[in-house]
Amino acid sequence: MTHRPLFLLLAALAGLASTGVIPSARATGILPPSYPDAERINAGRRLFFEETFDGNGRTCGTCHPATNNFTLDPAYIATLPDDDPLFIAERPEPNPLSRHFENPALMRQLALIKENTNGFGALETDFTMRSVPHLLAMRTSLLAPTNGNDGTTLPPDQRTGWSGDGAPVDPDGPLSPRGTLRDFTLGAIVQHLTRTLDRKPGKDFRLPTEEELDAMEAFMLSLGRQHEYEDFRSLRMKDARAERGRLNYMGVGVSGTLNCNACHFNGGANTDPSFDFPAAITPPAFELSNRSFAPRVEELLDQPADIIDASGNPFDDGFGHGTSLFNVPTVIEAADTGPFFHANQIDTVEGLVAFYSSKRHLRNGQVLPPIVELNGSQVANVGAFLRVLNADENVRSAIQLIRQAELVFRRHARRVNLEIAVSEIEDAIQVLEGGKLHFADAVPALKRARRLAARPFTMSKAKRLLRRIRPMLIERAGQTSDASLDGHHH
Ligand code: HEC
Ligand code: HEC
Repeated sequence: MTHRPLFLLLAALAGLASTGVIPSARATGILPPSYPDAERINAGRRLFFEETFDGNGRTCGTCHPATNNFTLDPAYIATLPDDDPLFIAERPEPNPLSRHFENPALMRQLALIKENTNGFGALETDFTMRSVPHLLAMRTSLLAPTNGNDGTTLPPDQRTGWSGDGAPVDPDGPLSPRGTLRDFTLGAIVQHLTRTLDRKPGKDFRLPTEEELDAMEAFMLSLGRQHEYEDFRSLRMKDARAERGRLNYMGVGVSGTLNCNACHFNGGANTDPSFDFPAAITPPAFELSNRSFAPRVEELLDQPADIIDASGNPFDDGFGHGTSLFNVPTVIEAADTGPFFHANQIDTVEGLVAFYSSKRHLRNGQVLPPIVELNGSQVANVGAFLRVLNADENVRSAIQLIRQAELVFRRHARRVNLEIAVSEIEDAIQVLEGGKLHFADAVPALKRARRLAARPFTMSKAKRLLRRIRPMLIERAGQTSDASLDGHHH
């Protein structure tokens, strides 16, 4: 119940309230027919995973697979067969996509994808290497700041992509995109699904219909959390280090002016509306919107893509041209979707936190001060906090998926929902074990739940067990019944 006013506010700001539906917190599988808008969302899901748009054989799911949190990492890529369409640039000549389309070394070793974010005018020189963002909780992370007062502009009307400037589509072309999530499908087809570098609609791919664009937008908006996470002040982490990490995240015991919560308010992608940002960093905000900043990750000396292939990893200038602005992603969904940042610069959760607390020695020799002045212990605490938050969200999502499995009729749909539920439970186990957290309570319980969730016979038992696991991780103010934790607000 507690999120309702916040979500309504966000929804109103984003123009979503016009649909008149407050969607329940959704998970990422196949929806039962009784759920709001289920038919359109399930149609969008089919398009996302099955439709090639008469292109090179890739689908959106090629790079955004559901059982890998809609993102790619090198370990996942290593499980794919060589003839997977992801590797189309590696196919033997004559191959119209063998050059200027992907960089196989950076793809296989770092899960980086070539993006022509400034358009397709100079393929040889004008490109950036980007990691694949998970598509979770996008309903909460698209709202552009008023007047673009963080150094960005309107349009783009919604903040998508790492630099918040949408997908590359010719703005003077016949598509007249406004840089919205709905438009992103167009850009992704032109960038990733094309048969040749001509990128001609009708020849290299077909354009989606209006209905298809609507369905895919609805599907993408249905993924993951549908509202901001709870107020961090109302949580108590059961693990002592994670609890201290919560306080450190909010600036308690931290020297300097900035803290994590200022830019990632309550673990989301929006700024803290009551935080007084130093003028050197961004104009004052006083609103809950998805801003962009210049942490300068892309300029770090000795980053992995430079070690593997420096000439294949040119300067990435961020939003528009030369701004170095990158858009704030969510924190809740982070721990199981590494490597981190827009070119997978950092591998581990603790390394990600350490980025913020260490001096930034750049390629050009410049040395910038730390962004958030955590000490070494606090780095580990914040890492523990991020891990527990992520595990909690995994469990919420798994409960939702099992509920969906209980309510769908077709065996295939049930299997898909349970498969994703199991992968969520596995992620929770991994992020907790990776931080040596909750090894005596939540981790063994999660391992039991994983076994139970794998089979329709025992799935309801798994759901009940999962409900008991969330309070092992986090104590919530006013926590009354188990059901209040599942994210259903009807
Ligand atoms: C070859 C891999 C690949 C394929 C195929 C692909 N994407 Fe992506 N996707 C990416 C990468 C890389 C980014 C980051 C782009 C950026 O920062 O500009 C991204 C970003 C996105 C985003 C922005 C997410 C956010 O958090 O802002 C959306 C939405 C998206 N893709 C949707 C799609 C859709 C829809 C399709 C199918 C039409 C698709 N993608 C196909 C690699 C891919
Ligand atoms: C000044 C604003 C700001 C502050 C303060 C800040 N961040 Fe970020 N954060 C960003 C931006 C911008 C990005 C995207 C950076 C990029 O990829 O270039 C980001 C990215 C992230 C990501 C996403 C990584 C991924 O790959 O999905 C996480 C997690 C994160 N930050 C956690 C933190 C933590 C923890 C702190 C405190 C130690 C913190 N941030 C402080 C602005 C900020």
